[in-house]
Amino acid sequence: MTRAAGRFVVLAVTGSIAVYKMVELARRLVQSGATVQVVMTKSAAEFVTPLTFQALTHRPVEIEMFSMQDERAAGHVAMGRQADVVVVAPATAHVLARLAHGFSDDLVATTVLATSAPVIVAPAMETHMWQNAATQANVAALRARGVRVIDPETGPLASGDIGPGRLATLERIEAAIEDALGGSEGLAGRSVVVTAGPTLEAIDPVRFISNRSSGKMGYAIAAAARDAGADVILITGPTALIPPAGVRTFAVESADDMKDAILAQLPRADVVIMAAAVADYRPIERATKKMKKKDLGNEMRLRLVENPDLLSAIVATRRPGTIVIGFKAETGDATAEAGRMLRDKKLDLVVANDVADPRSAFGSDDDEVAFVSADGIERLPLLKKTEVARRLVEKLTERLAR
Ligand SMILES: Cc1cc2nc3c(=O)[nH]c(=O)nc-3n(C[C@H](O)[C@H](O)[C@H](O)COP(=O)(O)O)c2cc1C
Repeated sequence: MTRAAGRFVVLAVTGSIAVYKMVELARRLVQSGATVQVVMTKSAAEFVTPLTFQALTHRPVEIEMFSMQDERAAGHVAMGRQADVVVVAPATAHVLARLAHGFSDDLVATTVLATSAPVIVAPAMETHMWQNAATQANVAALRARGVRVIDPETGPLASGDIGPGRLATLERIEAAIEDALGGSEGLAGRSVVVTAGPTLEAIDPVRFISNRSSGKMGYAIAAAARDAGADVILITGPTALIPPAGVRTFAVESADDMKDAILAQLPRADVVIMAAAVADYRPIERATKKMKKKDLGNEMRLRLVENPDLLSAIVATRRPGTIVIGFKAETGDATAEAGRMLRDKKLDLVVANDVADPRSAFGSDDDEVAFVSADGIERLPLLKKTEVARRLVEKLTERLAR
């Protein structure tokens, strides 16, 4: 970890069997130059003694909220105020519930409530506890408030079962800490191609067919990938937006132009994110001169031909290892369609979006999407597109770190 040096990391440890893994995380954080303040719930201290953390971090471990000594300086909120990042790991089902409801009944919960620093939560629990609707609702509530939840992994659990619930690897937790500490360089050295906006298919020099894509999602992704340190190329159809600074932007019109622009960038791309709404059809003929109304009469017929399938072309020509992400906007069950698209087009992830919902319709600043990948379906609450973009980049960073 490079960004942790000199930073104040609060490691909030709660009562899961996975507590022992945090001993290694605390050690690594200290080694990378961070000041690590461990705060434990009473349950956590049943699993690993505070002395172990204290010896590694060279700081007293905090457990008690009601400390006469500390309260001289409002000790119960001091850690939250001082923190550059608060990492709740492992996070029990119990602490997820308490954090989701804004409890402040112990030092871990109070620290989270009192901080303005980014909060990372890494849950760990038995599969049934993780999948329980109550836990999922708590996780969704935390995510909607901007808490960065690192999904647990699927694998062998302490009970002997195999399933989702296993604490994320330390590498994923470290990547999330890096990301939280200063805009992240999680995509440093990576080349990310993002497409955005609609394509415009000319009928004649003045008329065209197109769609309602505003480009907001693609532009937000380009900015988020730039913030994560990537070298970003934005290939955009016509939009009313100002391209993000620090991003190389290529303006195109038609699906054909977009295909050429992407294929030219593909040899050096580590990631291609296809957020553009590429027109499925274009007029068979494009008139070179404006078609006159008097010649057309009162009925105009357009003959359309299918546009090239950009995703298939990209997947067929990409370097091995290049990650390709698609978007599926549907009026209806977008998630099922996204699953089909993932398999049929051999993509790495599809962002599913029901555009019939007025809250996440084309042009809106908000979006309610699901990430569909081989890992399963991750439904996000209604979020700002900028936040959806940040989450997508976070997901990408995790995937590249694997
Ligand atoms: C051996 C053992 C292992 C446990 N492991 C977990 C776990 O991995 N995840 C979890 O959510 N709860 C686990 N629990 C239950 C929590 O410790 C319990 O819900 C506790 O109240 C959590 O308190 P805290 O969230 O304040 O730390 C475990 C309990 C025991 C006895």
